[in-house]
Formats: sequence, C-alpha cells, structure tokens
Amino acid sequence: MNAVEEEERSAPTERAPAKVLVKSYGCQMNVYDATRMADLLGREGYAETNSEEDADLVILNTCHIREKAAEKIYSELGKLAIAKRALNAQGRDMKIVVAGCVAQAEGEEVLKRQRAVDLVVGPQSYHRLPELLRQAKKGARVADTDFAVEDKFRTLPAPSRAQIRTRGVSAFVTVQEGCDKFCSFCVVPYTRGAEASRPVTEIIAETKRLVDAGVCEITLIGQNVNAYRGLDVDGRESNLARLLDRLARIEGLTRLRYTTSHPVDMAQELIDSHGAIPKLMPYVHLPVQSGSDRILKAMNRKHGADAYLSIVEKIRKVRPDVALSSDFIVGFPGESDADFEATMALARGVGFASSFSFKYSPRPGTPAADRDDQIEEKVKSERLAALQALLEEQRQAFNAATVGREVDVLFEKPGRHEGQIAGKSPYMQAVHVEGPTELIGREASVKIIAAGSNSLGARLMSEEAKA
Ligand code: SAH
Ligand code: SF4
Ligand code: F3S
Repeated sequence: MNAVEEEERSAPTERAPAKVLVKSYGCQMNVYDATRMADLLGREGYAETNSEEDADLVILNTCHIREKAAEKIYSELGKLAIAKRALNAQGRDMKIVVAGCVAQAEGEEVLKRQRAVDLVVGPQSYHRLPELLRQAKKGARVADTDFAVEDKFRTLPAPSRAQIRTRGVSAFVTVQEGCDKFCSFCVVPYTRGAEASRPVTEIIAETKRLVDAGVCEITLIGQNVNAYRGLDVDGRESNLARLLDRLARIEGLTRLRYTTSHPVDMAQELIDSHGAIPKLMPYVHLPVQSGSDRILKAMNRKHGADAYLSIVEKIRKVRPDVALSSDFIVGFPGESDADFEATMALARGVGFASSFSFKYSPRPGTPAADRDDQIEEKVKSERLAALQALLEEQRQAFNAATVGREVDVLFEKPGRHEGQIAGKSPYMQAVHVEGPTELIGREASVKIIAAGSNSLGARLMSEEAKA
C-alpha cells in the first residue's frame, strides 16, 4: 500500500466525529422525537454529547404549551448565542437548530428574534434535518414547518442496538400524533397537526427491536393515544385495546403503559384491557382539566364531570388497584369560585396518585385567549396553591398506602448510595432497595417498607435477594 492510500484510508477515522446535543422540553413526545433525531443524525456521522461546549450542533426541541415554556426557549437561545460566538471565534462552526412546537408555532419569527439560530424545523419535518443541515452549512437560514405528506416515521432510521442500550430499559413508542379535539385553551392541534396513527406492523416492529436490545417496559405515546386508529395487519382499522393486546404477546416485554388519554376516547374495550392484559400496568393518566361542567364546556372538552367520574368508576371496577393521575388547569377565563370548588370536589372524590396542575396561560391563536373574562393572576395563584396542596396530600396518602404491600419493581439504575438499586413500581413510584446491580434491567418482587416524600423504601423478597 502506498503512502497516499494509507492516508486516505485512515483520515476519516482520525477526524473526531461531529457531535450533537439534543435538549428536550415539554411532553414525552418531544423526548421520543429527540431520540429519533439523534438516531437520524447518528447515521449522518454525528455522535451524541451532553455538553454544549463539545457540540457542533445544538438542537432545542421546544414546547409551546404555556407562555413560560415558550419564553424559556428564548432565554436559552440567548445563552447559546454567546457560546456559539465564542466557539466560532476559535474556528469552530457550531449550528443551532430550533425544533419542536415553538418552531412550528413561530416559524420564521424564531430566525428573526434570534440571529444565532440557523434552522427552524417543525415536528412533522425533522426527518429532513440532514438536507436542511447541508443548506445551513452553506450559510442558509431556513424554516421548514411543512406538514409533510410522506410518513415521517418510515423515513427515520431504526436506532442501533448500542443506541437503544444506552437509553435504558424503559422506552417510548409514538403510536399516534396530532389532535383534532381543539380544546379552546390548547396549541397542540396547531403545532402537531391533525390526528394520525401509525400502522400496527410498524409499531410491532419498532417494539420488537427495542425489546431485542433489552428494553422491557414500553410506553405508547400520543397526544390522544386512546384515539389510536392505525391500520391493522388485516387492512382494517385497529384501536388501542387491540394494539395493546398484540404488543403484550411480545416475549421479553414485561410492562406496557400508554399516555395521554382523553376521557371521550376511553372506550369500554380499552377499559376492559386493564382487567385482561396482565402486562398492562395499573396506572392511567386521564386529564380532566376542571370539575365544573360550565368550564369543561367552555374548554370544549366534550364531556362533563359526571362522565369523567363514571369512567373512573368503570376502570376501578375491572382493576381495583388502579392508580389514576390527571392534569388540571385553574383560572380558565370566566372560572368562578364555585367552578373552582367543583374542581376541588372532583379531585377529592377521585383521589389521585399523582397530578399535574397549571395556571391557565393564554396562547396566541386559541379561542380562549381572546375572551374578555380573563382571571386575575393573583386569583390564579391562590387557586393553584389550594389545588396543589390537595393533590400533594393525595399523592402522599397514596404512597403511604403502599407501605406493607408486595409489588414488582422494574430496576433501572444504581441507587443513591453503594449497594442500593432504584426502579419503578407499577404505579410509577420511585423505589429504592438494597440489592445487587445484576437486577438492573429486570423486574423483582419487593415489600414496600417506608414512604419518603419522593420515593419509597423497600426490601427484596427473599428469593430475589438470593438471586
Ligand atoms: N392531550 C392531552 C394534553 C396535552 S397538553 C389532553 O387532552 O389531556 C398537557 C397539559 O397541559 C394539558 O392536559 C393541560 O392541563 C395543560 N395545558 C394545555 N394548554 C394549556 C394552557 N393554555 N394553559 C395552561 N395549561 C395548559
Ligand atoms: Fe390539547 Fe385538548 Fe388536544 Fe389535549 S385534547 S392536545 S388538551 S386540544
Ligand atoms: Fe409541548 Fe408540543 Fe408536547 S406544545 S406539550 S411539546 S405537543
């Protein structure tokens, strides 16, 4: 081999690979999308990094759901712009991409507001990132927020086994994206587009790949996951209950979850799945937003408080040990003290294991933002504090009630100190035990012995401790 050939062969391996940092905000779908972007860029030769200083490419995968979430991105971009200037002054060529829901909602505005941004790419066009990056390298500043006609998922590469392994034993799989519900406060139908479901075969293939690489817990995600209507293998329309049933047959998969559900799509067939599929975890996240029929109507939620309570009752009938969680909005325009009291009453009536609650945030382009009966900030804050105190009390009560019970824990990582391992109960609680690291990536039975404010202490059942 002559010297020139030698140099040509070794050159590519000697150059350090370009590095990408993807930072995600917002919901689980953004977390999933971040992994798919990383997979895609991996094929383009990018290695993942956790450090900004190290990154040649920084992607902010943004959320537009509340004003605070969206504004946070601009302060983050301000800091990144300074870092970019400093690095590029040293001869580097750092690029900044804004992806996700702020990208979709604001498009070219992002390029105008922050000069350091090179690319803006919406949630339905990130499969075009490699081409867009080539344009950016030539100096173009592009905003691509088209709702692509092609199936984004099909054009994205599957992650390698090594990539899957580094991400742990629990994984998300998007099965449905977008929303046709148009709740009057919400930006999601505008940022994610119309409801679309992936075909069953595609979801099975993706799940099998994850399970083959060691994943044992899959959470199916969608903005309205229970509105899933993907094509079944027989060419007919499937639904979430049938999809769960198929996935539960995959050997090596031990836990299935799904989120987020809308109450109006909580079909009896899906409720029955909770009694019929042992791998389906007894935990349902079912946002209610408000307990007042008047406010629910104004929110365009398409159901009343009683309908919600009746769904809860039906789920508890087929799965008495089910834990429920929810989302709440306080201070929606026109919300009176009595409306808010109805929300408190609903929460007291159900008893939630865990919940998220927010002050209503007017979002541009949504009907509720234009109403002239907006609620004062002070009132919103008082209501949020009262609701959060109640929900926190319920969370603690739920945790305390698991003390003394035997449950299966899926161990995910080493614990806080030597000899300890940590995992998740079927009810999404963090659990710590003294135990061998060999159990990481596996499920084992434990007895819960103590409830702390954010995690549970437990003891391995004797046979697992011996293993
Ligand atoms: N698709 C899900 C929720 C997606 S958004 C559903 O229908 O339940 C997640 C949560 O953010 C919502 O449940 C709601 O509680 C909250 N949220 C959405 N828009 C909001 C707004 N404008 N102000 C405050 N909270 C909001
Ligand atoms: Fe938003 Fe309502 Fe759609 Fe949920 S169902 S994503 S809250 S519009
Ligand atoms: Fe936020 Fe978009 Fe998810 S607005 S909550 S990242 S769908």
